[in-house]
Amino acid sequence: MPETIISASILNSDLSDLRSTAKAVEKSGADWLHFDVMDGEFVENITFGSSVLAAVKPHTTAFLDVHLMAAHPQRQIKLFANAGADNITFHIESDCDPAEVIREIHALGLKAGIAVKPKTPAEAIIPYLADVDMALVMTVEPGYGGQGFIPDTLPKIRELRKAAPDLHIEVDGGINPETSKLVREAGANVLVAGTFLFRAQDMHAAAEQLR
Ligand code: DX5
Ligand code: ZN
Repeated sequence: MPETIISASILNSDLSDLRSTAKAVEKSGADWLHFDVMDGEFVENITFGSSVLAAVKPHTTAFLDVHLMAAHPQRQIKLFANAGADNITFHIESDCDPAEVIREIHALGLKAGIAVKPKTPAEAIIPYLADVDMALVMTVEPGYGGQGFIPDTLPKIRELRKAAPDLHIEVDGGINPETSKLVREAGANVLVAGTFLFRAQDMHAAAEQLR
């Protein structure tokens, strides 16, 4: 199983001051910065697009882990690649040809991830695991930070880890020291945390508590 990676989601950070947010992520020792893109169609919420990522990019050296909650991911890939993304994860439930999207992300020199919502079975993405760099198991319904962890997603993490022993398996939503233990035991190694980290007095200590 690959090493534990902490990916700090900025969705619930102080969005009025992204420069400080980016610095706080660096200081916390989190390995990646998780950028939740929501288009108001795939999920009801709308967050931020590639121009905001481009604005954040100069203020961080963190690996930019873009999570596309977008109905038509193929429309966004080049925009986020040009904005400085390092990884783009799209949802299998979106309206796209997954193999084509993966090919396009790789052709632009980025890492490619494929994501499943809580109710989508592992089988939906198993055919693509050999072609991607990461599988993302949503442990909350996509749309908002600060939701409760869904324990029914644990068997899916186990199933994906069994199918892909060396792949990055990312979990996203409701991750704190208690749920981090559960998901790591199930086989996840990339832990997205937003609310837990940005609510902490000491973000570095909080990030270490997740490892
Ligand atoms: C939800 C997002 C998550 C979320 C992080 O759609 O994908 O990244 O913001 O969740 P919390 O805040 O629970 O860590
Ligand atoms: Zn996310």
